[in-house]
Order: sequence, then structure tokens, then C-alpha cells
Amino acid sequence: MQAVSLRARSLSTSLFLKTLLALSGAGWFFFLINHLYSNLHMFLGRDSFNAYYDALKESPAMLWGIRGVLIAGIVVHVGTSIVITRRSLESRPQRYHVKKDVVTSYAARTMRWTGPLVGLYLVYHILHLTVGAAMPAGLAHDPHDYYGNVVRSFQVPWVAAFYVIANGALTVHLAHGASSLFQTLGLVDPQVDKTRNVVAIALAVLVCAGFASMPIAVWAGVLVP
Ligand code: HEM
Repeated sequence: MQAVSLRARSLSTSLFLKTLLALSGAGWFFFLINHLYSNLHMFLGRDSFNAYYDALKESPAMLWGIRGVLIAGIVVHVGTSIVITRRSLESRPQRYHVKKDVVTSYAARTMRWTGPLVGLYLVYHILHLTVGAAMPAGLAHDPHDYYGNVVRSFQVPWVAAFYVIANGALTVHLAHGASSLFQTLGLVDPQVDKTRNVVAIALAVLVCAGFASMPIAVWAGVLVP
């Protein structure tokens, strides 16, 4: 009886952790869609892009409100993913009993390597464009010319290549993340499994193709300093 109640408690803790993981991931996903929308202003020209970021910086309450939510989200996301991973490694002997577990563990393993890669991408990206401490050699960071910082950096081949490749890791992470989110929201019927995965992959590819379009457009000479 006690074993049953311990198991029930462990299952409800797992569900709670997975819900927190999914919700924090969803928050970041919405940020990414908004960030992509803002960044696509690059195709409307320097003034349009710079005006967007100038407006954001002119409102410290909004800027720090968004930053606060993003930081809280990433702390919850990384924290819960570490706890869930440790718990799943501790219960490893039972994992390969049924096929579904093998599929789940494949997705979980993928998240374990794409997660840290996306984390590194994010740290580099903030040092690069927000802090300005990681501009490519020979380029100065202009805190008021967001467009110029991006375009001049993407003219350096390794920077553009890094962003495109890192977007690949982000695509895989978002595709698995979105699929798990739909599952946590209750879409677990075998009949919707395939559709759920197709929608998740399509969303991830769309967002990441949008982000990759900027370094590619600079390479192609469509966006110029
Ligand atoms: C080609 C793709 C991208 C471009 C051109 C881009 C561009 C920018 C620019 C111009 C800024 C503002 C810098 C500043 O504060 O002065 C920024 C900030 C930021 N970007 Fe990106 N970004 C890209 C992709 C991403 C991705 C994929 C993520 C998330 C994984 C991301 C997350 C952030 C965050 C968290 C900030 C900091 C916002 C803040 O200052 O509070 N960006 N990005």
C-alpha cells in the first residue's frame, strides 16, 4: 500500500516537473516567434529595424519585464530538465521494456545534446549583439545601430555559418519540445500522434528557417550594411 502511494507521489511529481518544463519551453517559444517577427524588420531596412529596438530600449520597464520573464523561464526550464534527466537515469533498468519507452528515450537523448548547444548559442548571441563583447575581430559594436551590428557580423563567413548551424540544433530542439508540449497538454491519442509530430516539426522548421534567412540574405548580398 505504501509502495503504491510512493509510486503515485513520484508520478505526480514527474507530471508536475514535465508541466513546468513544457510551460517554460512554451514561453520561450512565444518569445522566439515574437523575436523572429521583430528581426524580419531587417528586410524593411535599417531604419525600421533600429526603430523597433530603440523603442524597446526606451522603455526600461518593458525591457526588464521581458528579461525577467525570460530569465525565470530559462532557470525553470534548465532546472526541471536536469531533475527529470537524473530521475530517468536512476530508473534506467525499467526503460527498455516496451517500444514506446525506446521512442521516448530517443527524444529525451536528443534534447540532452541539443539543449546545451542551444544554451551555448544563446550565451554567444547575447555576448555578441546585446553586450557587444563578442563581435568578430576588427568590428566595433554600435549600441544604436542594431541593423549594422547584425549585417556587418554576418558578412564574416564563420559567424554566418555558426548562426545557420546553431539554428539546426534549435530546429531539432523545438520540434521535439513542441511535440512533448502537445503531449503534456493531453494530445496522446495514437491517432493524433503522427499529426502532432508533423505540426511540431513544421512549426520548428518555419521558425528556424526564418532565423536562418538573415545570415543567408547577407551572404547573398540581399541585406547590405
Ligand atoms: C539570425 C538570427 C537572429 C538575429 C538576427 C537576432 C538579433 C538580435 C538582436 C538585434 C538583438 C538585440 C541586441 C541588443 O539588445 O542590442 C537580439 C537579442 C536577443 N536575442 Fe536574438 N537574434 C537572432 C536569433 C535569436 C535566437 C535563435 C534566440 C534564442 C534562442 C535569440 C534570443 C535573443 C535574446 C534572449 C536576446 C536578448 C534580449 C534582451 O536584450 O533582453 N535570438 N537578437
